[in-house]
Amino acid sequence: MVHIRKLEIFGFKSFGYKNTIVNFEQGLVAISGANGSGKSNILDAISFSLGENSPKIMRVDKLRSLLHDVDNAKHGAKIARVSCHFDNSDRKIPVDSNTVTITREMDENGENIYYLNQKKVLRNHVLDILEVANCGIHKLNIVQQGTITRISEFNAEERRKIIEDIIGLAYFDEKKVESLKQLDEADRRLEIALARMDEIKKRIDELELERNNQLRYDVLDKELKRMYAIQSSNKLRDIESTKIP
Ligand SMILES: Nc1ncnc2c1ncn2[C@@H]1O[C@H](COP(=O)(O)OP(=O)(O)OP(=O)(O)O)[C@@H](O)[C@H]1O
Ligand SMILES: [Mg+2]
Repeated sequence: MVHIRKLEIFGFKSFGYKNTIVNFEQGLVAISGANGSGKSNILDAISFSLGENSPKIMRVDKLRSLLHDVDNAKHGAKIARVSCHFDNSDRKIPVDSNTVTITREMDENGENIYYLNQKKVLRNHVLDILEVANCGIHKLNIVQQGTITRISEFNAEERRKIIEDIIGLAYFDEKKVESLKQLDEADRRLEIALARMDEIKKRIDELELERNNQLRYDVLDKELKRMYAIQSSNKLRDIESTKIP
């Protein structure tokens, strides 16, 4: 199981414009504090950094509301930045470094930038490597308030689905569906290419026939001209010989 060593939160929800660092020791960590002090916002920050895009899951009406103090004009341009530092000494995340840091930045226009170990990457890349390590956002790694009650009310099929999600089967199922789709597409393209090849082959046959006819015509034409030239010179010789008294 992967372990989050540290979280850095800046401009996200109740966390203002100074980097807040939350260290997590190994084992069970409890966060205590008064109601509304921002405990659950820490969990939302983790979800955010790992690519969550559902406002509902992060308990807001729209993603913009994740920006700290968003409706207060006092501060300048608003930006939310969360970095999640994973302990990767066991290389569970397919990145060759002892610590894997995933950072997400979101500005007021809803533009998002992701970084993997400080290098810009696409969101999908972040999702993929986290899925491989079985610590993706939809894996019940993050259990929000009320989720347990919801799970206890699931039927057998929903429970099976959730267990598959937890052990990471769903990821491979999705990959399989995706691969089958790609395979179908490749087959379709192959069919088109083969049909085109047939057309081209037909055209080559036609051209070959035309070329052979042309060659035959050229040979015959040449031969005809040669014979005509011989005939003409014979006639000329006959005429000249009749002229001699
Ligand atoms: N965009 C934002 N800017 C500033 N503050 C925000 C923003 N979004 C949420 N908050 C603040 O976050 C606080 C709620 O935080 P959170 O839900 O994490 O509290 P909590 O400690 O989990 O509370 P509880 O003990 O009731 O579960 C509220 O005071 C709310 O005003
Ligand atoms: Mg809470």
